[in-house]
Amino acid sequence: QAPSSVGPAGRPADPRSNYRGQSGTFLTSAQGTRLPDTEHSLTAGARGPLLVEDFHFREKMTHFDHERIPERVVHARGAAAHGVFEAYGTAGDVTKAAFLAEGVRTPVFVRFSTVLGSRGSADTARDVRGFATKFYTPEGTFDLVGNNMPVFFIQDAIKFPDLIHAGKPHPDREIPQAQSAHDTFWDFVSLHTEATHMTLWAMSDRAIPRSYRTMEGFGVHTFRLVAADDTSSLVKFHWKPVLGIHSLVWEEAQIAAGADPDFHRRDLADAIEAGAFPEWELGVQVFPDTEDETFEGIDLLDPTKIVPEELAPVQPLGRLTLNANPTNYFAETEQVAFHTGHLVPGIEVTNDPLMQGRMFSYLDTQLTRLGGPNFGQLPINRPHAAVNDNLRDGMHQTAVHEGVAAYLPNSLQGGEPKVAAKNRGGYVQLQRPVVGEVVRQTGVSDVAPVSFDDHFTQATLFWASMTDVEKTHIVEAFTFELGKVYEQSVKERELAVLACVDAQLCAAVAEGLGLPVPTAAREPATVNPSPALSQLVTVPGPV
Ligand code: HEM
Repeated sequence: QAPSSVGPAGRPADPRSNYRGQSGTFLTSAQGTRLPDTEHSLTAGARGPLLVEDFHFREKMTHFDHERIPERVVHARGAAAHGVFEAYGTAGDVTKAAFLAEGVRTPVFVRFSTVLGSRGSADTARDVRGFATKFYTPEGTFDLVGNNMPVFFIQDAIKFPDLIHAGKPHPDREIPQAQSAHDTFWDFVSLHTEATHMTLWAMSDRAIPRSYRTMEGFGVHTFRLVAADDTSSLVKFHWKPVLGIHSLVWEEAQIAAGADPDFHRRDLADAIEAGAFPEWELGVQVFPDTEDETFEGIDLLDPTKIVPEELAPVQPLGRLTLNANPTNYFAETEQVAFHTGHLVPGIEVTNDPLMQGRMFSYLDTQLTRLGGPNFGQLPINRPHAAVNDNLRDGMHQTAVHEGVAAYLPNSLQGGEPKVAAKNRGGYVQLQRPVVGEVVRQTGVSDVAPVSFDDHFTQATLFWASMTDVEKTHIVEAFTFELGKVYEQSVKERELAVLACVDAQLCAAVAEGLGLPVPTAAREPATVNPSPALSQLVTVPGPV
C-alpha cells in the first residue's frame, strides 16, 4: 500500500506514517516489492543449489542474522509498562519542575529489572531490582533510574566495574547464574566493608520480591531540587507501592524459578491486562541544602547511607499508575535507554561520587548497545517535547533534517543572536562553588569524609529494625549463599565483617556454616557521626 498522502519531494506528509513497523496486506521485501512466496528458495532446478541472485533469501537471512543486539551490561533482564504520573502539586516549594505542578499528568514508561542475571535468567533470583522511570514531560525527558533498595554496595563509581565483575558468573565456568552464591561476590564485599549495609539488604526478603507491583523504589542518591526562586533543597526520592511491600519466602522463589522463570514479568503483564493497574506514590525526604551536605550527622553524599524516615518523613508528590503493556518487547522494553543525565529544570544531581560516575556511564554504554548516537530517535526514547538539538548525521540517522545551519548562533536561519546564557531559559544549573584539592583518596586519607569510613552503623540499624522472622530469613540467606563459597578464607572474612554488625547475626551464620565464631573481629565503626542515629540503634562494641 502506498502512503495515504505524499508530501513534498515524494516524502510522506506525516513522518509518523513511516514509524509503523508493518502496513499493507501483501508480503513485501524491505523495499516494498510485493513477493509471492517466502517459504521456498530460488534454486537451479528442482533439487539444485541455491542461487546467489535470490535477493529475498539474502535479505531475509541477513536481517535474521542481525536480530540480536548486546544485552545490557547490567540489568539485562527486565519487564516494562506504560503509564501515567499525576502530580499532587505539593512540590512547588522545593522544585520548579513543571511536571510536579498540581494535576499535571505525564506519560511514563517504567522498566523493572534484575541486575546480574542475563536476559534469559529467572525472575525470582536473589538480587537487587531496578526500578527505572522515564517521565516524558513537555520540558524534556526526566529519568529516575532507581533500585528497590535505598543504598548501594560502593561509594565511588570507579569501583563499579569491579563490583560487577565480582557479581557476574565466574569467568572460567560461567557459573553461578544466581547473584550471591559465589566466591568472587563474597570476596569483593568482604574486602569492601562499605558494601556491608547493602549486603544485608541483599540477604533480606527485599531481594526476592513477591511482585514488581509490591516493591518500593529509591533514587538512592541525594538529588538537589531547585525552586522557581532559585532556593535549593536536598532530597531523596522514594516510590511507595499502593499494594504494600511483599516478598516471597526463599522456597517460593526457588519453586517459581523452576516452574515459572517469568514469574514477575507474567504477573506484571497479567495484572495490567486484567485492569488491576499497579500504583505507586512518589515522595521525597527533604533536607536543607547546607554547605556540609549532611542531615542529622548523616552524610547525604554517601550512597551507602539512608536517612531513617523517623528523622525525615517521606512527603508525597504524586501517583504513578501503570496502565498499558508494551506492544513489542524489543522495540520498547529492550531499546529503552535510561540515563541519570536526563534531567529537567528544577532537578539536579549532587556530588555523590557514585552518582557522578553514573552521569558518564549510561550514554556511553548505550552508544554500543543501541548502535551509535541516534538511539534517542527510537520511538520509545523520543521525548514528548520539541527537539531542536543541532545533533546531526551518525549511524542509524532516521531524521531528515532541513536547512543548512546546524550551529548557534547563526544568521542564515533565524538562529538565536548572542544573548547572555542566563537569559536563555531552560536548564541552567544552580550556581554553586566547587572547591577542593585534586586528590585520589587511596587508603586512609585525611581528606576522606569521616562518615564514608563508617561502614557498620547503618548495617546494624537495618539488622536491629528486622522482626525475628526477617532476621531468621537473613541468617538463612547468608548461610545458604556463603555455604556455596569454595574458599574457606572468604567465608571467614565475611564472618568477621558480620561480627562488626551484630554478634547474634555472626554467631548464627557461623553455626550454619559449621565454622567457629570469629574471636578477633575487625574493629567495629569507631565513628558514629550521627547522634540522631544513636538514639535509633545501639552500636555494637567489639565482639
Ligand atoms: C542500568 C551503570 C549504579 C540503577 C545500568 C547500565 C549501566 C549502568 C552501564 C546499563 C544501561 C543500558 O544498557 O541501557 C551503572 C554505574 C553505576 C550504577 C556505572 C555506579 C557507578 C546504579 C545505581 C542504581 C542503578 C546506584 C540505582 C539507584 C540502574 C537501573 C538500570 C541500570 C535501574 C536499568 C535501566 C533499564 O531498565 O534499562 N547501570 N549503574 N545503577 N542501572 Fe546502573
